[in-house]
Amino acid sequence: MISLIAREEIWYFAIILFQGVRGYERLNLGSSKALYSPLSRQYKCLIETGTWLGDGIQAALESGFRQVISCDINEELVMQARSRFQNQPVQVHLGSSEQVLKTLMWDVSEPTVFFLDAHAMPPSSEAQVFSAATLLPGHEDDQSLQCPLQQEIKIILESGYSGHTILIDDRQCFDTWLFHYLSEETIRAQVESLCPGRYSFSYFRNVLCISPIGIKIPREASYLLIARKAKKLLKIMRH
Ligand SMILES: C[S@@+](CC[C@H](N)C(=O)[O-])C[C@H]1O[C@@H](n2cnc3c(N)ncnc32)[C@H](O)[C@@H]1O
Repeated sequence: MISLIAREEIWYFAIILFQGVRGYERLNLGSSKALYSPLSRQYKCLIETGTWLGDGIQAALESGFRQVISCDINEELVMQARSRFQNQPVQVHLGSSEQVLKTLMWDVSEPTVFFLDAHAMPPSSEAQVFSAATLLPGHEDDQSLQCPLQQEIKIILESGYSGHTILIDDRQCFDTWLFHYLSEETIRAQVESLCPGRYSFSYFRNVLCISPIGIKIPREASYLLIARKAKKLLKIMRH
């Protein structure tokens, strides 16, 4: 009974009952932590590609991961994150995710969670910290640029260790210039051809989760999905 009351979903439900969908939004429990916490009980280390301001690292630490490793191609962001997380079990590497993962995989000696989030970002006022030279622009007319996801997955799955969980953030960017028009089907086919029958696929909000059989990936409670759909519907009806 106590463990039932402690479940996050019960509180979500209560908030939706008493405050409606807006209450749930106000609660803002943080998507990454809801996904990371159950995984930190099954894995010690999380490796992230794409550091940005370090909020993903923070969420991983707060969720209970004992070691967090991140990398970014932008030097300013790497320096900033190194100073934000000094004296914590965090490493931040400078370099493309492909280069960094190739080197890191030599030292990975146990199943690990990989959070793949290294991709172009749309211009915004928040993006001023980027130096233009190192931001991966991802313009659709630049054929030389490629989304790093396929290379990252190849490096992880060919590393010799099985049991890794791979999380691909921002799945809404599949088939857009932000992922250089890479499709989700291409990624699923790549995983299947490298490790036939060993991985299953699921979604957690905007994250595509690729997990080995036996690993528990949290699921969004169905009433939350209904609440989100209801919110969208209300928005459409208001316009
Ligand atoms: C969406 S942000 C990452 C957000 C971060 N993971 C978080 O949860 O707060 C994308 C980051 O990926 C970086 N990036 C883009 N292409 C990259 C690449 N090929 N290798 C490493 N980092 C890359 C960008 O500089 C940017 O900081």
